[in-house]
Amino acid sequence: MIPEITLDMVRVTEAAALFSSVFLGRGDKEAVDQRAVDAMRGILDLLDMKGTVVIGEGEKDQAPMLAAGEHVGKWNEDDPEVLIAVDPVDGTRLVANGRSNALSVIAATEDGKIAPLPTYYVDKLAVGKELAGNLDIEATPRENLRIAAAILGVNVSELTVTILDRERNHPLVEAVRTVGARIRLINDGDIAAAIATALPDGGTEIYMGIGGSPEAVLAAAALQCMGGEIQVKCWPRDKDEIEKVEKSSFELHAVYGTKDLIDGEEVVFSATGITDGSFLKGVRFTHSQAITDSIAMRSSTRTVRRIRAYHEIAYKTITTKSGGEVSIFNSLLGKRA
Ligand code: FBP
Repeated sequence: MIPEITLDMVRVTEAAALFSSVFLGRGDKEAVDQRAVDAMRGILDLLDMKGTVVIGEGEKDQAPMLAAGEHVGKWNEDDPEVLIAVDPVDGTRLVANGRSNALSVIAATEDGKIAPLPTYYVDKLAVGKELAGNLDIEATPRENLRIAAAILGVNVSELTVTILDRERNHPLVEAVRTVGARIRLINDGDIAAAIATALPDGGTEIYMGIGGSPEAVLAAAALQCMGGEIQVKCWPRDKDEIEKVEKSSFELHAVYGTKDLIDGEEVVFSATGITDGSFLKGVRFTHSQAITDSIAMRSSTRTVRRIRAYHEIAYKTITTKSGGEVSIFNSLLGKRA
């Protein structure tokens, strides 16, 4: 049985959020990401576990740490073996441009698996508990929305579908418009969008469309803890990716469900808001404190915890990988402790 590491995971995402939020709105995407990765990696190494990163910083971020296969944690002899998926910043551009909806995210599992999806993007359909098991990514939006409305006892026009605003998703936007549902278009950050479908006050019943593959796995962890569901299909960008799928254990036209993406005796998930979003506030600084909002959950009990932490800036240090303990105070001033 995995030890209760949910709070440890919260410390990991809090550190990443705190440290990257220092770069809010400065237009420096790389700094946002590097700071989050450095803090996340540093805190992970304090934990009593034999951790292996399965989903880490991908080709998009080209970070020097938290790559797939990397070992994290103390690796003491008796420590449990834990598989890890991370997205230190989901919405790097959002933080760099001072926009809302960015999260720091981690998921972990013992005695289980995490699927390293072979394509950069996947087509996704995510829903909360009431709709889980009832929709089909292979059905038309019209059919799915008709079923969703019937189950929820509302008109299709009362449903809100969230879609990532990308050209590749424009045909989907048109299809949903034609059926008459409401649409919430997001610029970035589709882990939060998928999770929102499972929250009673999330403001959206369905997340649909083509987005990042690692984000689908992280969303699967959260949805599994909340009784929701995600379905995905590989969405290769080119011939090379088609070949990559063919050489992998995945199939081009198969539908993968929540537990195909991440599973285990216990799945643990934590997210901390970096900038304000629909269910988490971003990092705020007062005169003496930094305040973080996190959501943490685990699959065996389906307990969803909301954790607001008040970090006393003068006392707060973050253990980074690159520079040992760093004070946020000095970091805010652009210096290292
Ligand atoms: P990053 O912060 O890693 O850039 O991801 C943000 C994001 O919006 C994800 O939430 C989403 O799944 C993915 O990018 C979509 O990719 P793209 O921006 O290439 O369309």
